[in-house]
Amino acid sequence: MLNIAIDGPGGAGKSTIARAVAAALGIVYVDTGALYRTIGLYVRRHDTDPTDEAAVAALLPGISLEIKYEEGSQQVYLNGERVGDAIRTPEMSHYASAVSVHPTVRTFLLDTQREIARRTAVIMDGRDIGTVILPEAQVKIFLTASPECRAQRRYLELCQKGITTTFEEVLAEMNARDARDSGRAVAPAVAAEDAVLFDNTGMDLEQSVAYVLDLVKEKTGITPPRG
Ligand code: DC
Repeated sequence: MLNIAIDGPGGAGKSTIARAVAAALGIVYVDTGALYRTIGLYVRRHDTDPTDEAAVAALLPGISLEIKYEEGSQQVYLNGERVGDAIRTPEMSHYASAVSVHPTVRTFLLDTQREIARRTAVIMDGRDIGTVILPEAQVKIFLTASPECRAQRRYLELCQKGITTTFEEVLAEMNARDARDSGRAVAPAVAAEDAVLFDNTGMDLEQSVAYVLDLVKEKTGITPPRG
């Protein structure tokens, strides 16, 4: 089964690139950050401090998560409710990052992620896909770009969604989140030893996708089917 892992900090373009690569290769794109965001949403709704591991762990038995693909896009269902864009706010970015530090949360999500990749050819994005979730992935990429470039992309994305913020606010929040995601004790956001480091500062989507497709071809011999 073809498994492609793409890890790296927020705003590097993982999801946009992975979605385009999945479409080109006819495989499934799995956004694992959405799972942490959904747990964050549930924790927020229960007025629970996301940094309190015991309190968060006590909520986990009440959570049932499902990933479904509707018209080609991933949807997460929380206890039967489609979460949609409720998980895409800056507040949920913060909650997701805070709950993702806890080993109980990571263990809770482990099987869901591995099971999809066992059954289906996937490109999966996250922070620990190449190191922990899919250590046997045939292609591993650690994608990054300069903090300013990533913050600018994220800022434009939020503006397009009508969320009021400033570039400085986005950059500060992104730096704080990077430090927490890469500094945590369990499954930190670091490159796997056998990952290819890809810095796409200044590159557009088309160039980034072409780079990844070339890498997939080099590592596996697989090329996009002729359309
Ligand atoms: O990729 P994202 O911005 O949607 O992820 C939200 C948070 O979830 C991120 O700050 C860290 C956490 N996360 C993680 O710890 N491991 C993953 N595989 C994916 C996300």
